[in-house]
Parts: sequence; C-alpha cells; structure tokens
Amino acid sequence: MSMSARPEPRPGVMKIDAYVPGKSAAAGVAKVHKLSSNETPLGPSPKAVEAVRNTDHLELYPDGSATRLREAIAAKYGLDPSRIVCGAGSDELLSLIAYAYVGPGDEGIFSQHGFLVYRIAILAAGGTPVVAEEKNHRTDVDAILAKVTERTKIVFLANPNNPTGTYIPFDEVKRLHAGLPSHVVLVLDAAYAEYVRRNDYEAGLELVATAENVVMTRTFSKIYGLASLRIGWMVAPAHIAEAVNRIRGPFNMNGPAMAAGIAAVQDEAHVAKAVEHNEQWLEWLTKEIGSLGLTVTPSVANFLMITFPDEPGRTAKDADAFLSGRGLILRRIDAYGLPHALRLTVGGEEANRLVVEALRDFMKGGSDA
Ligand SMILES: Cc1ncc(COP(=O)(O)O)c(C=O)c1O
Repeated sequence: MSMSARPEPRPGVMKIDAYVPGKSAAAGVAKVHKLSSNETPLGPSPKAVEAVRNTDHLELYPDGSATRLREAIAAKYGLDPSRIVCGAGSDELLSLIAYAYVGPGDEGIFSQHGFLVYRIAILAAGGTPVVAEEKNHRTDVDAILAKVTERTKIVFLANPNNPTGTYIPFDEVKRLHAGLPSHVVLVLDAAYAEYVRRNDYEAGLELVATAENVVMTRTFSKIYGLASLRIGWMVAPAHIAEAVNRIRGPFNMNGPAMAAGIAAVQDEAHVAKAVEHNEQWLEWLTKEIGSLGLTVTPSVANFLMITFPDEPGRTAKDADAFLSGRGLILRRIDAYGLPHALRLTVGGEEANRLVVEALRDFMKGGSDA
C-alpha cells in the first residue's frame, strides 16, 4: 500500500494545464472591446433575454431531461429528440464523451492546433492525448489516420477549428470516418457551423444519422450569444446518447438556460442577422489586415488568426501589448503552439475599425506608450 502523505490525483490530472479563458480587461483603459473569446457582437436574441427574465420558481429543480429544449432543437434540425443530450456548454459534453469512452491505456487523437479542451478531456479521463500534425494550419485527415492504433478510442475534430478558423470539406470528414475502425468514436465539434458559408462544408448531421460511431456537438455560446448561460447539445446514435446520459449530472441544465435556449433556437431572424454581420466583417477584416503586411489565415468562422513577424517590436506579444493599450483585447494563442499569432474575434463595426487602425499604427512602428 502506498503511504503517500496526502491525497494524490490520478496521474493524468497533474499533466493538465488548466484552460485559461480570454482576457476581458485592460489596465488603465476606460473602454474595452473584448475580442478574445469568439462571442457575438450582436448579443443574444431579445426573446431569449425575455425568457430568462420570465423564469420563476427557482426553488424547483429543473427538468433533468431537458425535454422541451431537446424538442425545440430536434424540430429545428429534423432530429430525433431521444438522440440529443444537452450539457452545460458543449465543453461539458466533450468531457462526458471522453469519460464514457476513454480510460487508462486508451488514446485520443486531435489535430496539432485543435481546441484545447480535447487534451484536457482525454487526460482527465485517464487517457493519453495523441496529436496529429496539421498542414497549413488545417486538419490533415491522413495525419490523423496515421496515428490510429488499437488503443485509439476517440478522435476529436473541430470543424471549423478554433483557433485557426480553417475547415475541412465534408468529403474529407467522410474520408476520415471511413478510415477509422468502427469502435472509435468520432466527435464532430461544430461550435461555429452556423457561420460557415462554403458549398463543400457540412456540419455532419448526415454522418451522425447513418453511422454508429459519430457524435456531433453544438453550442448556444457562439452565434446564439448565450455563452454566459452555458448551453450545449450533442446528437448521437442512441447507444452513445444513452451512455452519456448515464454519467451526466441529473440536473446538468438549469431552468433559465433552457428557457433561453428554446426562445433562441426559434428566433431564426436573429441568427440570420448574425450570419450576415459576420460575412461582411470577416471579409473586410481579412482584406484590411492582410493589406498591412500581416498574414491572415483564411477563416470561415467568427474569428481570424493573424500571424506576426518574428522581429523585435513586431511580434504577436508586442502587438498584444499595443492593442491592449488601446482597449482592444485579442487572444494570445501560445498554448495552442501558435506563439507568433493572435486570434481576433469579429466584433461590431466600431471595434473592427479600431483594430485595423491600431494594427496599421503598430506596423508603422507607432507607439502609444
Ligand atoms: C471549437 C470549440 N468547441 C467547443 C467550445 C465550447 O463552447 P461552449 O462550452 O461554450 O459550448 C468552443 C468555445 O470556445 C470552441 O471554440
């Protein structure tokens, strides 16, 4: 018997670097534009806000099965509500899927600059994270397939990916699925799906409906503007939904969140407005920032990755300090293995124009110090 002096967490736990959220304040600056967490500048549907205000009976436990929310989502996407599971953000579901399918000795694969929560979820479940190289900051299906071993239990794919903003066409997703052994769970994380305007993109509902090993996760945090309420959902084959339902907390969704989610999913006009805003400003930002001599990775989501020169005074770290001084908060992405880049969320018009102006001054060598 071990005689450790104090409780020790399981081995994987201490290998985790805790997730660090985007900053939301800048010292000494009155007006701050937070462009660091891919939140929508349009806010939530007013109908969702009203639904939260109208929730009462906070003394009562919420519906532990999230029945009405699942039905509202199912109606919108033409799905079977029994195959939907809701969670406190899609983060919770990503972890629950890992807990259900990964254990010590098992491996989980994700791509080189893939969303950080995958590594955390795999390690927390006791498994071993396996990283597949990307090509040009894009998921490389062959690199993922080359990493598959008999110990592989799960593959996480963010499509589009955060923080790169790149995507792979649905044909490539299908090729990935076809190359995986049938016991491996393929998780399609489509947190930014609503923003994508590409004919060869599909979030992958068709694959979830026809395969026994594909799960899709979605969120109300991005285009629906409800990040604060923590609402995510997944759709899966019945046996995977059942496994996740067994291990989730019995009341993992709260009443105000569910009420807001139902109202939000029914407000299609609000989503359409957000898509239109993003289309316009993503293109504008890409063009304007690219014209300053900075490298912008083509994005299909509501954020973009800007790569800075590796020269003193011009680095991503310098740019971050310069922009913060003007109240413009972007995201450092060193933790994603991208120390030379910053991630910028598409903001409202004022913020977008201020960012371009600030980057122009930064590249001219201007100083606000
Ligand atoms: C790719 C991706 N997946 C999932 C999430 C989690 O979102 P939430 O837990 O708010 O649903 C995020 C949020 O940043 C994300 O970028």
